[in-house]
Amino acid sequence: MRISEYKKVTKCRICKSSRLYKFLDYGSMPLANKFLEKSEFSDEKFYPLTCLFCKDCYLVQLGQVVSPKILFEDYPYVPSGSGVLMNDFNNLALEVDKRLNLSASSFVVDIGSNDGSLLSIFKNLGVRVLGIDPAHNLAKVAKDHGIATEVGLFNTKMAREIHRKFGQADLVCATNVVAHVDDVFEFLEAVSILLAQDGLFVCEFPYILDLVIKNEFDTIYHEHLSYFSLGSWQRLIKEAGFEIIDAKRVQIHGGSLRITNRLKKAETKPARRTINYLLWLEKQHGLTESETFGYFSDRVLKLKDEFTRAIHEVKVRDKRIVGLGAAAKASIVTNFFGLGPEAIDYIADSTPFKIGKYTPGKHIPIYSEEKVFFDKPDYCLIFAWNFADEIMRKYRKLRRKGTKFIVPIPEVKII
Ligand code: TYD
Repeated sequence: MRISEYKKVTKCRICKSSRLYKFLDYGSMPLANKFLEKSEFSDEKFYPLTCLFCKDCYLVQLGQVVSPKILFEDYPYVPSGSGVLMNDFNNLALEVDKRLNLSASSFVVDIGSNDGSLLSIFKNLGVRVLGIDPAHNLAKVAKDHGIATEVGLFNTKMAREIHRKFGQADLVCATNVVAHVDDVFEFLEAVSILLAQDGLFVCEFPYILDLVIKNEFDTIYHEHLSYFSLGSWQRLIKEAGFEIIDAKRVQIHGGSLRITNRLKKAETKPARRTINYLLWLEKQHGLTESETFGYFSDRVLKLKDEFTRAIHEVKVRDKRIVGLGAAAKASIVTNFFGLGPEAIDYIADSTPFKIGKYTPGKHIPIYSEEKVFFDKPDYCLIFAWNFADEIMRKYRKLRRKGTKFIVPIPEVKII
């Protein structure tokens, strides 16, 4: 195992405090989305993975930062494969369309636009769109579908260039992006350069409240640098010259927050009741106290015990287990729980970029979903538990024929 270069976090990303409490240590982990060819096994890189809680502004964040160039330039994740995710994008687009009354002259920018899934909805609503994404492979897919895309990491320089070329944006979206950014202040400055004075900045990220309540330890990996609460986001966005005008919990990615922000105005609107309610809820759940995260860590270790015991009991009976969804989460579960091809025959996935490759660290082969129907395994382990309903619907024929389904989170469940 080769431990590779990374930056160690010693100060909080938002408030610069050094009062950081380390509550979880995964040891050395591979990059969760770096699916490999067999020829790449010997060069695979591993990095420490720890999670910290800032005792001053309550931001939960990783203890190390791997270069975004390494993480995002060739990215296998595409949202268009999931009906649930596309539905979330549809809701987001219709919600903002109603609020902003978008027209043919409106300009919508999506940061981290991936294969252009969200922008294709705005395009169909008849507005001008531009995507920004560092992954060449995904930008190509987007462009092939007619979505103009700038390839690169979003920063102030890029924001100025886009502004000069296309004008100001009425809407800037960033779904599942800000949690991946190290210099959040630079990122938000770039958004403010691009955003029209009356424009909206809508962002969505996995919600730490859901992560803690539902034991979602497998959503913690090198790409996700920050795990925001509404409280920590509010502190950040205020300092960056924005204000929150709405916040909403959405079910995607195990529970996320969708936040509508705007540039700070002279007259501040009174906070919406939902904002105050969520801030209250976060306090109730102890998101401002380090003990909460200590307990979380204890629960994760207990889950590890229960889960490995359940898998062992299945394997001693000589039963076959196949994984469903080669999610990044699968990389965390298999590496942290020590499960390789001896326990999981293979993982089936719908993403073309992943099929034929191997999972990071444990090198479990990835096949297309058709193979599962043909093999009819005894057990299917749903790694993409956030899509459990959608996946169970897809495989309902197997269930009728006796295949059992294992869901690892929030607690081990065999269906
Ligand atoms: P996802 O949970 O979205 O994200 P992450 O990688 O951040 O953990 O990943 C879901 C994976 O599951 C993705 O590789 C696509 C795959 N998938 C299927 O194979 N079949 C399906 O029916 C669905 C919904 C997803």
